[in-house]
Amino acid sequence: MDVLITRPLPGIAYELLDQQNISYQVFPQEDRMITKPELLSRCKSVKGIISLLTDRIDQEVIQAAPNLTVIANYAVGFDNIDIACATDHRIMVTNTPGVLTDATADLTMALILSLIRRITRADKFTREGRFQGWSPTLLIGGDLTGKNFGLIGTGRIGQAVAQRISGFNVNLIYNSPSGKPDFEEQYNAVFLDLPELLRQADIISIHVPLTDKTHHLLNKNNMKLLKPNCYIINTSRGPVIDEVELVKLLKQNRIAGAALDVFENEPKLTPGLADLENVILTPHIGSASEYTRNKMAEIAATNIIQALSGKIPDNLINREVLEK
Ligand code: DGY
Repeated sequence: MDVLITRPLPGIAYELLDQQNISYQVFPQEDRMITKPELLSRCKSVKGIISLLTDRIDQEVIQAAPNLTVIANYAVGFDNIDIACATDHRIMVTNTPGVLTDATADLTMALILSLIRRITRADKFTREGRFQGWSPTLLIGGDLTGKNFGLIGTGRIGQAVAQRISGFNVNLIYNSPSGKPDFEEQYNAVFLDLPELLRQADIISIHVPLTDKTHHLLNKNNMKLLKPNCYIINTSRGPVIDEVELVKLLKQNRIAGAALDVFENEPKLTPGLADLENVILTPHIGSASEYTRNKMAEIAATNIIQALSGKIPDNLINREVLEK
């Protein structure tokens, strides 16, 4: 068996591997996460793994797979993989960038508008038969026009959100590891350091990868700076926000609300989070559009094929591996 695929994927992945006579095993065959013992026993002889962001590909897995030459993650994020260890073992690691940018930015916009205009609560209210006729005070939400929109992270997805939000007449402020003059010119955006952005923003949307530097980027100390009318939207990775602290702030109405598509201990939620009225919670569906998921499968399979046929995969993350 050449390749282990750790969960059923769109058919295009299998078609591409079949065309190249690359043998593969999809395990588990049902739609569930592979367990660690299953992963350890199934990876023993394979040359490639198509992994999911829910699979922790750590030193133990890497050492259990002596023939492994490529790990193709079916995601743009790759914080589930020990990249340094893979590189040491001369294993290429790839991801699926680009194809999920629009889908994730679209979900972000949906969450922003739903949160501010209380759409999920309004829907529930109406279904429950509580609508007694128009009222001047019913389900009053916030505004977007004229507000300070704080973007944290200006990679592909951050930029796609900037493009969308710039149609809403907001003041775009942003933070990234360094200022980006072209971005500022294109979107009339102003660079602020993180504490200043947190102080000024009315809405914050997070678009950073999870790394040692971004773990708890929003934490107990700096979330104190947030305005009481601030809304937070996170479609990146859960551990970027200290979720326990966030729940405290939301419970005490020290910020206006949060829309989260990702969670610190996914799929578990911090106790109390689901009981709050001022939150919208979605189950990590940023890339969940038909086109996007098919493209991700195509790209992951292509990365595997390229690596197994001695080519440099298009989406190689750890280029240092080529020097090994
Ligand atoms: C990713 O690709 O990293 C998203 O979080 C899921 O598609």
